[in-house]
Amino acid sequence: MNDAAPTLFEYDREGLAAHPAAYSENYLFTHKRAPLRPLHAVKPSLTELTGPSFGPEVLNECDDDLTRQHEDDPIGERIIVGGRVLDEDGRGMPGMLLEIWQANGAGRYAHEVDRHDAPLDPNFTGRGRVLTDATGHYRFVTIKPGAYPVGGLDNVWRPSHIHLSLFGPSFLSRLVTQMYFPGDPLLPFDTILNTAPPHSRHMMIASLDRAATRSEWALAYRFDIVLRGRRAGAHREHTRDG
Ligand SMILES: [Fe+2]
Repeated sequence: MNDAAPTLFEYDREGLAAHPAAYSENYLFTHKRAPLRPLHAVKPSLTELTGPSFGPEVLNECDDDLTRQHEDDPIGERIIVGGRVLDEDGRGMPGMLLEIWQANGAGRYAHEVDRHDAPLDPNFTGRGRVLTDATGHYRFVTIKPGAYPVGGLDNVWRPSHIHLSLFGPSFLSRLVTQMYFPGDPLLPFDTILNTAPPHSRHMMIASLDRAATRSEWALAYRFDIVLRGRRAGAHREHTRDG
């Protein structure tokens, strides 16, 4: 690589420092999916750098309100979740697709492999989608998910959490993450949260957003999401830790 200023098509690998390692002894699923050999960098093609992109055509009615996808109201605490999707320079990212999945209020997924002894809710599927607006904001309504035990392990429980997947502007900014709730007593024991470096764990915990709370209807939580972005310039490498 020469010393010229980075092109628009470079992604900063340092940005991965906030992410969990691919392998964690305490996060059992990583034992099977972590690479066994060192990664080999492949120069991305235009296909990976420019897509995929999504528009309103991918959304169905009530995708942004998981409490209104069935005939009746689901059981549980209705909540509003919102925030901004940002690049590494703090700029809002419009048109980003967030895919949402979560357990119901009793801590049970509407999925055939979930054998947790908790009730399914016929009025809650736990899946949604939402696009960010022109300034990177998103918002959806759902039920606060319950904690659930991890099958096959002795008294291991997951804190309440919402799964989120974002593609960002390209495959290289893809992020699959989880949103946790502030003050949850299970947070210190969650092996998945604790896989992330200590300095970045707080970024996965939402904050109570009193301004967005709707009186006599639902509490609101704020959760901003930072995606990897294209390098703004070589100087960024010297300011990253500042
Ligand atoms: Fe989960």
